[in-house]
Amino acid sequence: MEKRVVLITGCSSGIGLGLAVRLASDSYQRFKVYATMRDLSKKENLMECVRDCHADTFEILQMDVTDQQSVVSTTEKIKEQRVDILVCNAGVGLMGPLECHSYESMKKIFDVNLFGTISTIQAFLPGMKQRKSGRIIISSSVGGLQGIPFNDIYCASKFAVEGLCESLAIVLQHFNIHVSLIECGPVSTNFMNNLHGVDANDSRLQAGDSDTRSLYAQYLQHCHSLFQDVAQDTEEILQVFLEAIEAPTPSLRYFTTQFFMPLIKLKLSCTGGSEYVRAMHKFVFSGTKQKEHEK
Ligand SMILES: NC(=O)c1ccc[n+]([C@@H]2O[C@H](COP(=O)([O-])OP(=O)(O)OC[C@H]3O[C@@H](n4cnc5c(N)ncnc54)[C@H](OP(=O)(O)O)[C@@H]3O)[C@@H](O)[C@H]2O)c1
Repeated sequence: MEKRVVLITGCSSGIGLGLAVRLASDSYQRFKVYATMRDLSKKENLMECVRDCHADTFEILQMDVTDQQSVVSTTEKIKEQRVDILVCNAGVGLMGPLECHSYESMKKIFDVNLFGTISTIQAFLPGMKQRKSGRIIISSSVGGLQGIPFNDIYCASKFAVEGLCESLAIVLQHFNIHVSLIECGPVSTNFMNNLHGVDANDSRLQAGDSDTRSLYAQYLQHCHSLFQDVAQDTEEILQVFLEAIEAPTPSLRYFTTQFFMPLIKLKLSCTGGSEYVRAMHKFVFSGTKQKEHEK
């Protein structure tokens, strides 16, 4: 049986690494995995995990999704000259009050999460269209469907990815190309440690705005423990990716957790939006300080 060629972005750690390993070690050797990462000096973890895999099932390539040249040169290195399953996984986070973010830090989030995804899809879409076959799977987030306080820029970038993929999916039906968004809640990877966050004592927060400082401190305290409590193991997330990969007719969206579903349903059913804003505020800022900020 011919192997299905899979290319995954952001395989130096977390979900990308886990998925690359899972597919490369498939017991029926059904996949040939191109695991890409922007910095090949980080490949040791991955190498270690695929040590026992058959050489035919695995290859590591350099690819920085924000560097057009790097994306193009990766497409040229794919021996089979085709990718059956493209997984756009590379992503970065940014947390903190909006006014604390520099233009550069915000631009970086969009460069990786949105434009990196667009460049990657652009590079492989013509081949898929020609063959009238393919799957595009995106590591998205519940933050792409609902606003999360102090994650404005990250959510904006993932909302944009959702709009991109939902729009694409409509046209790509004609080409037998399926687009799937994997809607993750918190996952136990290095993502939170890697994200560029504003510290509660950041000097930009000290300039007289005690209200924002106090809300942000509450958010950090509440959400840190909440996200730890509900965070999923990478293995659970990989199961959902496999579901999207193996489904005869994949869905546009796969939710890895039901935890955020009541808020998402509320948002979709009360289209005015105020109910969602109030419910999310209560969810995050419930406690003694809440009333003060509701005045
Ligand atoms: N973990 C969560 O709680 C969570 C929740 C919802 C959605 N997600 C999404 O899941 C995806 C994977 O995140 P993760 O949890 O596995 O976090 P992670 O361990 O931090 O992985 C992020 C990956 O993206 C790569 N990356 C960053 N910038 C890149 C670029 N310019 N070009 C290529 N690769 C780049 C990183 O490479 P370097 O090592 O070189 O930086 C790393 O391999 C992201 O899209 C994220 O938004 C995660």
